[in-house]
Amino acid sequence: MPSEKGGVNGKCVFIDTEGTFRPQRIKQIAEAMQLNPEKVLKNIFVARAFNSDHQILLLEKIGEMAKAGEPIKLLIIDSLTAHFRAEFAGRGQLADRQQKLNRYMHDLMKLAETHNLAVYVTNQVMANPAQMFGDPTTAIGGHIVGHASTYRMYLRRGKQGSRVAKLIDSPNLPDNEAIYYVSDAGVVDEI
Ligand SMILES: Nc1ncnc2c1ncn2[C@@H]1O[C@H](COP(=O)(O)OP(=O)(O)OP(=O)(O)O)[C@@H](O)[C@H]1O
Ligand SMILES: [Mg+2]
Repeated sequence: MPSEKGGVNGKCVFIDTEGTFRPQRIKQIAEAMQLNPEKVLKNIFVARAFNSDHQILLLEKIGEMAKAGEPIKLLIIDSLTAHFRAEFAGRGQLADRQQKLNRYMHDLMKLAETHNLAVYVTNQVMANPAQMFGDPTTAIGGHIVGHASTYRMYLRRGKQGSRVAKLIDSPNLPDNEAIYYVSDAGVVDEI
């Protein structure tokens, strides 16, 4: 967003691991916000990560771009764990996967601090049969991903087409929930 609209006038890098990035969707949201869609799209660098090694390697490239003067203010990884989960499938590979993920999380933190940019990652949950009471879902990557993240939000479907964002970990805010909707205009409070 431009600074006169409360933004930081920066660029964004979107690392797509699932092949779901759609420029048309950005265009739709930009138009609803009365922004120039072409301009908005020019400020988003999209990189498709083909496997976890490639996903890791892309961070170096982003560091180089930031060093060269690209005003990258936001890095999005959608999704953080899909490749890791697919490539390290069995229980026997869990330790290796977690080690690799841990290194990756630390690389992300370093990138964020060095270049003063925000990192936003999506992650999936899985059913945890050991959980007898309460919500039986746990995040992929476990504590390694959890502890390396400053804020964690749990997104789920609510009633009548609504969605619920639940803050589950924050250094300065209490746990809370907010209802939102996904519309043509993007994320909105009501439809
Ligand atoms: N133009 C639109 N207007 C309203 N809703 C839309 C529009 N485009 C997409 N959606 C809704 O957004 C949802 C898809 O959202 P999204 O792709 O962010 O899901 P996701 O959380 O990434 O899913 P996954 O975990 O499979 O990656 C769908 O429920 C779809 O109905
Ligand atoms: Mg998705």
